[in-house]
Amino acid sequence: MIDQRKLPCRKTYVVCKNYPAVIRAIRDLVIRGAPAIGVAAAMGVALGALKIRTRNRDRFEAKLDAVCQEIVAARPTAVNLRWAVERMKQVVTLNGDDTVEKLQSILVAEAKKILAEDIFINRAIGRYGQRLLKDGSCVLTHCNAGALATAGYGTALGVVRAAAEAGKRIEVIADETRPFLQGARLTAWELMEADIPVTVITDNAAGYIMQQGKVDAVIVGADRIAANGDVANKIGTYMVAVLAKTHQVPFFVAAPLSTIDLSIITGKEIPIEQRDEKEVTHFQGKQTVPHGVVAQNPAFDVTPHRYVSAIVTEKGIITPPFKAKIRGLFASG
Ligand code: MRU
Repeated sequence: MIDQRKLPCRKTYVVCKNYPAVIRAIRDLVIRGAPAIGVAAAMGVALGALKIRTRNRDRFEAKLDAVCQEIVAARPTAVNLRWAVERMKQVVTLNGDDTVEKLQSILVAEAKKILAEDIFINRAIGRYGQRLLKDGSCVLTHCNAGALATAGYGTALGVVRAAAEAGKRIEVIADETRPFLQGARLTAWELMEADIPVTVITDNAAGYIMQQGKVDAVIVGADRIAANGDVANKIGTYMVAVLAKTHQVPFFVAAPLSTIDLSIITGKEIPIEQRDEKEVTHFQGKQTVPHGVVAQNPAFDVTPHRYVSAIVTEKGIITPPFKAKIRGLFASG
């Protein structure tokens, strides 16, 4: 996997040869973004399965279960992680008569399938979502919901890419996204590689830029969407959504069905990851606040569904009211 901590200065790779290395990579943000950590988690389960040395199926399943539990605990907010691990567990259940050896190769194949499907899904999100963007639009995004955050192409940035591929002139404003700078470092890098005009702003500048009438639409990804349409995404997204409503700018969310958690009714139930204070108190290894001061570092926030103009999925676009339409996405096969 690309080491996302090092971008845009260096493009280096981290090779994970076992599942604890995958867990470390997810925790340390070597790889990040909800769909990307889902794919990594599936690969982690496959790596874990390959290392289990038993021919007894029950013992194999018990050990695999322990591996799965550890992987799911790597990060709490993005539900794609749990979704991918559950899907890996399900193939074990579905192949109840197979030998351990056969199961190991089935699990490897399933992880590769999850990876391939994710790119396909992102392209479908892009195809639907690009209809929301007019030629000449200026789109503001927060964090990175691009190729780096997925297996490829991206969700929110997939919509931007698809609009550009359809011949529309799209310009992007990328919030820098404190403290990990996913917007400044990753979104800007990806869009420059794709030749899509991008301007980076500090998170604090979003209100001013919208007040100037410069933003035609906001589009972001998601880490978990509740059954009522509440959206957990990178910290700061809620702030952007409130600003968008104030300035009558549509606020779009692009995410695969694997990001929707029907088991929770509202966003209040979404666990919010609290990361190390050091990410706030230090910048590139250097302390930037008084020694000993308390800091808080919630990594995500929840945007209530009333701020969301539309959710773009691989099954199409839904608009408010969301509840029944979200259920419908799963019912339509
Ligand atoms: O902490 P991160 O970088 O993993 O957070 C990522 C985000 O919040 C993304 O916007 C979200 O996962 C959507 S990625 C297609």
